[in-house]
Amino acid sequence: MSDTYSTGDGFKVRDLGQAEQGRMKIDWAESRMPVMMNLREEHTKKQSLKGMKITGCLHVTKETAVLIETLAAAGAEISWSGCNPLSTQDDVAAALAAAGTSIYAWHGMNTEEFYWCIDKTLEMKPTLTLDDGADLIFSVHNRHPELADTIIGGTEETTTGVHRLRAMAADGALRYPVIAVNDAETKWDFDNVFGTGQSSLDGILRATSVLLAGKNFVVAGYGHCGSGCALRADGMGASVIATEVKPTAALKATLNGHRVMKMDDAAKVGDVFITATGMKDIIVGRHFETMKDGAIVCNTGHYDCEINLEDLEGLAQSKRTIRDNCEEYLMADGRRIYVLAQGRLVNLAAAEGHPSEVMDMSFANQFLSMVRLASEGGDLKPDVHDIPEAQDQDIAGIKLATLDAGLDELTPEQVAYDSDYSAGT
Ligand code: ADE
Repeated sequence: MSDTYSTGDGFKVRDLGQAEQGRMKIDWAESRMPVMMNLREEHTKKQSLKGMKITGCLHVTKETAVLIETLAAAGAEISWSGCNPLSTQDDVAAALAAAGTSIYAWHGMNTEEFYWCIDKTLEMKPTLTLDDGADLIFSVHNRHPELADTIIGGTEETTTGVHRLRAMAADGALRYPVIAVNDAETKWDFDNVFGTGQSSLDGILRATSVLLAGKNFVVAGYGHCGSGCALRADGMGASVIATEVKPTAALKATLNGHRVMKMDDAAKVGDVFITATGMKDIIVGRHFETMKDGAIVCNTGHYDCEINLEDLEGLAQSKRTIRDNCEEYLMADGRRIYVLAQGRLVNLAAAEGHPSEVMDMSFANQFLSMVRLASEGGDLKPDVHDIPEAQDQDIAGIKLATLDAGLDELTPEQVAYDSDYSAGT
């Protein structure tokens, strides 16, 4: 990994020389994000975010670049860092820096650098924060609490982040209102399921190029993300095994045609493992001890705590990088276990994250939440707030129109019927 950087006033990225390539990727994303481009046109005219200072901490991808440039076009001043050490697309970061965005992000940073970048972005003294995984909000609360006095509100992109922020709000520890972007239907029902499903398999295939047909594909956690991975692996001919702690989710997996087992049993038969639980220690030493020779293990949950790599390091005799994002651990008995992307988000570290088409809706929710906070954030109490239903329907409506889908409308008689409690057999 190169340790040279391009730095300047308001940015530190890997190599500004990659800017042209990054700009072409951003152009590509723009052409597949019609809802965002629609919002950009409308809010450039309205300047809805004029005077706002937005600090963001979210994967630096071509889709995020479209979000950043839309926020800026609506009048906001921006400062950005990536929310995972391995997910930054260096060419995209370069293109953003070259076009004047304040950005501190490069692929392969260590934990100390990760927090240094967040601290640099907070120097702007934001009025709004935009998070994926809540590391930015935690940094404000734990290390820069004085900034919370002037922050109007924030947003959170992911399931794990929202979960933690709700716990923080329940404890009375949250200092400003946060909108749970993850919980919008046009986010979780598409991004988490179809986005994670496709991009995680994309990451596994780029890192291994294995045939999935006929393989035992173990999905730990059958929530929205896990079920998306199961759906796509099933579609490619793998035999899916789900592991769960929640009876309803396990039941759903069973009725979708998957086997449900304890991880202790799945470990012995799995060929490919993916964790999508948001919980730590899903795959630990005793599982590695019973895995087959050649087993492939990866994670698509936000944090890298789901696979206990310390246990594996302790058991393995040696390790080597055999392909990009693929490390081979040699066990004492000669078995080889392959870990992808160091147990970090395989879809963003080994592939490019979710496709632009789904991020279009997720980021429309981010953008509209920023606009809402800018105008009414001062009236919201410090808690986790939901996306309004109308916003979900608006975003879905615009997206549908771009997909050339026809939508029926209720007649006045049907509208009346809908609320007629005297109607029956
Ligand atoms: N999370 C998952 N996929 C993503 C993408 N393409 N861009 C930003 N965040 C993401």
